[in-house]
Amino acid sequence: MRCILSVCLALCLVSVCTNVNSQARDDRPDTGAPGSLAESLERVSVDSPNGKNSVEVFVENGRLYYSISRAGVPVISQSRLGLRFLGRHGLDSHMGITGYSRTSHRSEWETVWGERRTVSDHHNQLHVTIYSRSAKAAFSLRFRAFDDGVGFRYEIPAQDGSPDVAIMDELTEFNVGVKTESWWIPSRMFNRYEYLYNNTPADAIHQAHTPATFRNGDGVHFSIHEAALINYSGMSLKQTRPGVLEAELAPRSDGTRVRLSGELKTPWRTIHIADKAVGLVNSDLVLNLNEPNKLGDVSWFEPGKYAGIWWDMHVLNRTWGQVQGNVTTAHGATTDYAKKYIDFAAENGFVGVLVEGWNTGWDNDWFSNGDVFSFTESYDDFDLVELARYARERGTRLIGHHETSGSITNYENQLEDALDLYEQNGVRLVKTGYVADDGNIKRIDHDGIARYEYHDGQHQIDHHMKVVRRAAEHGIAINPHEPVKATGLRRTYPNWVSREGARGQEFNAWGVPPNGPDHVPNLVFTRMLSGPMDYTAGAFNLRPSEQPEAVAGLGRHDTRSRIEHTLAKELALYVVIYSPIQMVIDSPEEYAGRPDAFQFIRDVPTDWEHSLALQGEVGEFVVIARKDRNSADWYAGAVTDEQARAIKLDLSFLDEGQYEAQIYCDGAQADYETAPYDILIKRQNVTRADTLNYNLGRSGGFAIRFKKL
Ligand code: NOJ
Ligand code: CA
Repeated sequence: MRCILSVCLALCLVSVCTNVNSQARDDRPDTGAPGSLAESLERVSVDSPNGKNSVEVFVENGRLYYSISRAGVPVISQSRLGLRFLGRHGLDSHMGITGYSRTSHRSEWETVWGERRTVSDHHNQLHVTIYSRSAKAAFSLRFRAFDDGVGFRYEIPAQDGSPDVAIMDELTEFNVGVKTESWWIPSRMFNRYEYLYNNTPADAIHQAHTPATFRNGDGVHFSIHEAALINYSGMSLKQTRPGVLEAELAPRSDGTRVRLSGELKTPWRTIHIADKAVGLVNSDLVLNLNEPNKLGDVSWFEPGKYAGIWWDMHVLNRTWGQVQGNVTTAHGATTDYAKKYIDFAAENGFVGVLVEGWNTGWDNDWFSNGDVFSFTESYDDFDLVELARYARERGTRLIGHHETSGSITNYENQLEDALDLYEQNGVRLVKTGYVADDGNIKRIDHDGIARYEYHDGQHQIDHHMKVVRRAAEHGIAINPHEPVKATGLRRTYPNWVSREGARGQEFNAWGVPPNGPDHVPNLVFTRMLSGPMDYTAGAFNLRPSEQPEAVAGLGRHDTRSRIEHTLAKELALYVVIYSPIQMVIDSPEEYAGRPDAFQFIRDVPTDWEHSLALQGEVGEFVVIARKDRNSADWYAGAVTDEQARAIKLDLSFLDEGQYEAQIYCDGAQADYETAPYDILIKRQNVTRADTLNYNLGRSGGFAIRFKKL
């Protein structure tokens, strides 16, 4: 007790002065070990700049713990910290705090592209040094307390003797409480991150991906995730005791979790915290915990919308390959068909046209065919060089596609040539793909043996980094599907522009069940906290599986596969789901049939000066406003779940002056099941003093452009 009191006294003194403060202990000069654990500091803490979020780090019985509270109410109760290794003592027992320092930081930095131009990084940092007598090793923990959450990581210096480390277990816990409400998807299941969200008490989680989002009884929302996932394995959350989630690192094929050499800095473990659900969405926590831009000028990457030969394959109008068995199929990636899409993109000011199935290797079962993909050889009916020229001449570009089906050695062996080919042809954005069950990323090791890795395992994280860095050297941006989750690395590598990493639109083409009315309101408060998503919006035919078959023999999917949105909700996705590249998925004919509604897609930008989540509840609804980075216009989007909902939109987010509101909202009958196409399109002049009222239909929405007059 005496010890705790003296520490408190020390902390009070420390908090008066805001600069670096250290409490050096009576350390032995050779090891840095405290003379005895009884002399250790036992409890140190740090508060966020506004004093609301508090972190405590403490030792009990030689074990290290932390806890986080908001306004004095626990968010993460007493939770263990530590790591275990192969062949050496873990940092898990006989530990003592040997010192600490606290610093304050306040800065602003500019994004290259993003939800907002200027990001503010304001936090208080606590750096705690620890010694483990059993491991005879010193290490430290760095905590950063922001007003919108907390991040912390382990920092372990290279050990003398053997600098190689193999982590077997990260002991970090998140004690969220048993009955805390949670929204989560399962991890380590075949479909990677592509699941519908579960909404359960926390003790029903078995193992979840992050971000996983929670709401306490007092209404505080928080979400657990990680930042700067590099040179490590992805963290899932595994329930070890009721209400206690432990960091579960994706295993490597050799049975360890992480292998590295030299100094170890783990990714940041992050906890977004907000009084309301929208506060989670308005946070820049994950970006602030990443390193600044390492690529310098990436102005060659142009945010924007893109069309593509893509939806046609998902709804069975066309095929990726040329043959299936002995039968010739309806190949989508032909020169003529691509020209039609290039014309369409050029007419509408889109930055590019994605063409999938252009390269050899897609015939027959491409899911299991990863080893035969060529990334430089086109099918004979696709003239890449001519199409790239044709597109550039019209002011747009081809967008590249590299589906690997999870065979990453085959891809890496061709990577340089593949990027060269695209660079020479003016391709500046490449979509990659890793269609393979989780745990089935195939790599060939140095001995020629096939090893199988997880999509968020260390090998695959290294692979993504290799592709992103090499692509940057060629002036190419990357958009992976079946990716590893986003952890804010877009700040450091701003050519890593988007990714899938959730159930996207494709499930509405062939999924039973499709994504469902609550999926987007779930995504916004979970998946979207990690970073941009290539959701692939803009379906104008909401029931594609009910059409007669396009090509004899290709058939149609189950008619339950459909877009369970109203048309206005589909438009709202361009505002509500952030990505600097947004697909416009449907055919030119579908858009030609609804030019009035299509106008919103033509107008909406994909790069923002500022973004504000205004209202919403997890899985129920959300209203987001964003200001265009390149004009004085604002945009707003709203989506609701299967509940019809009245939304009052207070326009005080607008700047001074007059705007013309160009409104695309659900009509009076709109309902995703009975009248999905009922949309009301109108114009009205407004100022920031006005309030607009809308009734959203079931699974409906609105999309509004506020054009500055
Ligand atoms: C899955 C991706 O999510 C989808 O967009 C793509 O069309 C297919 N893989 C084929 O690469
Ligand atoms: Ca996918």
